[in-house]
Amino acid sequence: MTANMENPFKFGSIVEDEFFTDRVQETEYICNYIKSRNHLVLISPRRFGKSSVVLRAVKQAERQYIQLNLQKVTSIADFAAKLLKEIYRTHPWEIVKDQIMRFRVIPNVTSNQVTGALSVAFPPTQDQRVLLEDVFALMENAHSEDDRLVVILDEFQEIRAISPVLEKTLRAIMQEQRHINYILLGSQESMMTDIFENVQSPFYHFGGLMRLKKLPREEFEQYLKTRFEPVFHEQAAELTNQVLDYTQCHPYYTQELAFYMWQVGMWEQIKTDVKEVAIRQIIDAYDLSYERIWANFNRTEMWILQRLAAHAEFQTGDYKTSTIYSALKRLQHAGHVIYTDRYEIEDPFFSKWVMARR
Ligand SMILES: Nc1ncnc2c1ncn2[C@@H]1O[C@H](COP(=O)(O)OP(=O)(O)OP(=O)(O)O)[C@@H](O)[C@H]1O
Ligand SMILES: [Mg+2]
Repeated sequence: MTANMENPFKFGSIVEDEFFTDRVQETEYICNYIKSRNHLVLISPRRFGKSSVVLRAVKQAERQYIQLNLQKVTSIADFAAKLLKEIYRTHPWEIVKDQIMRFRVIPNVTSNQVTGALSVAFPPTQDQRVLLEDVFALMENAHSEDDRLVVILDEFQEIRAISPVLEKTLRAIMQEQRHINYILLGSQESMMTDIFENVQSPFYHFGGLMRLKKLPREEFEQYLKTRFEPVFHEQAAELTNQVLDYTQCHPYYTQELAFYMWQVGMWEQIKTDVKEVAIRQIIDAYDLSYERIWANFNRTEMWILQRLAAHAEFQTGDYKTSTIYSALKRLQHAGHVIYTDRYEIEDPFFSKWVMARR
């Protein structure tokens, strides 16, 4: 063990290579989809590893791809501009140049002299739909049936917030295309289901539906144990089990807790109660933001969260079932509560914080 060892855990953004574990079947499954003429819809709660597994599959299939998070999109024109920017970034200029000259509305493209960062914007226009049509046509024309582009749209349920007509417009454009595989990702289970499973919806049965689960325990166990061993030696297996019991194999929180525990093992003199020390550090770090989140809940929501944190029943007569149900829906929608095989607080550290302040 050397003092300049790098912490082998990573939480927060896309994980690749040595930070990525398992998902062998899922990767294969996604690969097969993009090798076919079909599109794929991937749903899971936040931070289960959607982006990471999709990126791995696309790379494994050695396919050209572009990626956009719809949460960052403010209007249809902005959607067209952001997509175009991605095309610029990933395609040779010769391929896109002629087509852009034929756009009905010519975009302003500037590159920052100092940073080299590209900025793309369309001038104001009455009919934003033509912008979208032209950009989607460009993607289609820059590829062929044998060289299909993979377009990954993250937080796809946001399509409804960008513009009420976007869903219909986009579906009309996409169904004509032959040179693109779409992978549409979302974390709002109920909205995603409504978009793709509701017969009335333009995207009804647009592609295969896949739900990403937490990571399998044995795989994660191996991953943690090998990384704990240089620091914790014979304690490594026991600590690994403690982490996974606590996080229930949630990919992100497992990496986060393991990261802090590794840190404790590396730098603290006393190495007892490593997990508890790490949890306390995490909760301390988030205390202010938890406080702020808590202040915005109403009484029913607070009551529900407290019962979930304590693993207690809802049937107490304190609240009407319908009141509880709609509050649960709100909490789920905001991402504080998830439903896997039961309702649970999404963040195990927040759950602990809730318990502590009762
Ligand atoms: N296969 C994996 N192996 C190890 N850790 C993983 C894996 N997948 C996800 N993680 C952990 O979860 C975190 C979130 O992963 P990722 O950003 O891919 O999830 P996401 O579902 O796209 O999240 P978001 O809802 O924020 O878009 C990673 O930073 C990592 O800590
Ligand atoms: Mg993501």
